[in-house]
Amino acid sequence: MPLYIIRQDITKLECDAIVNAANNTLLGGGGVDGAIHKAAGAELLEECKRLGGCDTGEAKITKAYNLPCKHVIHTVGPIWQGGEKGEKALLESCYKKSLSLAKENGCESVAFPLISAGVYGYPKDKALAVAAESISEFLFKNEMTVYIVVFDKASYQISEELFDDVQEYIDDNYVDDNYVDDNYADENYVDDNYADENGYYLERSGEVCCRRVPIFKESDYDLFGCFEEKIEEPTEDLSLLDMLSKIDDNFAVTLLKLIDIKGMSDVECYKKANVSKQTWYKIMNEKEYKPSKNTVISFAIALELSLEEAKRLLSTVGFTLSKSSKFDIIIEYFLLKEEYNIFIINETLFKFDQVCLGV
Ligand code: APR
Repeated sequence: MPLYIIRQDITKLECDAIVNAANNTLLGGGGVDGAIHKAAGAELLEECKRLGGCDTGEAKITKAYNLPCKHVIHTVGPIWQGGEKGEKALLESCYKKSLSLAKENGCESVAFPLISAGVYGYPKDKALAVAAESISEFLFKNEMTVYIVVFDKASYQISEELFDDVQEYIDDNYVDDNYVDDNYADENYVDDNYADENGYYLERSGEVCCRRVPIFKESDYDLFGCFEEKIEEPTEDLSLLDMLSKIDDNFAVTLLKLIDIKGMSDVECYKKANVSKQTWYKIMNEKEYKPSKNTVISFAIALELSLEEAKRLLSTVGFTLSKSSKFDIIIEYFLLKEEYNIFIINETLFKFDQVCLGV
């Protein structure tokens, strides 16, 4: 089942269990602990008093009383002390113990806050990475819908390096639909940049090339003193690209062929795509099923397709990647980087206010 990142107040969620970032006494506190106790009512505290506290990295379950969910799982995250005191292992244990407890109690859906990312000072991007890694590891072996609940955008950070890199790629590639390039005249425009007979052609405004059209040899890169990322000739396994370009199967058949070529199992593929079992069955059993662009991209990521192969797969169901869509630009960034961890991609999409991959 999939992992979702959502913006919400965890006390409002009607899932089977919500997780509380508690302290060792389990007697309430501030932050999400305070919010949960306040919304649940005094009976929650009475039950917690009977639990005798909770060790860091451990988890205990109670009823939910006035909360809309069925259970509250209380876990105690580590206090950040610089990262050398076993904090990561303790935080991983919080997620693993909470998920095991949820499974033991028949929960089909669980919502986590970012444990330790508040008062306990765990760096927010690191806390998010531990959460996504721990939860996705559990989801590869278990069926459950899990939510990472972000209360406020300030409490949500991805790694600065990744954020800056993706932002730069968006700045370099995003073409706002409403943008009018005053250097770009109509079809009579004679481009004095027209280079040699090889048809190399750079549009530019002033001394900066603003858009590149055909594929360039290395030597043309600093033609106008600008340097752009080299787009390699598609050097992928042409058999796969060939197969995709000859496709007239429906999406399900294409998907199964690709899974075989990649040597994956069906379950491995749809879990890597962050797609629910229900959606997988729908794809495989509803003859007229038409996948959404999001679903096709999710499977392209799971199959670890190259950018060219992913574009080809999208085209078999009538979709393309557009320069005027931030979502598409971010997907292109990760495909070019060959980063296929869908949870890292979703964390980034969420950070840029885009919908997440998987259904
Ligand atoms: N819904 C969802 N998330 C929330 C909510 C809410 N209503 N309130 C806060 N959060 C988020 C915070 O933004 C943060 O990202 O929960 C995350 C965890 O922050 P804390 O609640 O401060 O928990 P933690 O960092 O683990 O510290 C635990 O704080 O409240 C005390 O008693 C608690 O001593 C314990 C310590």
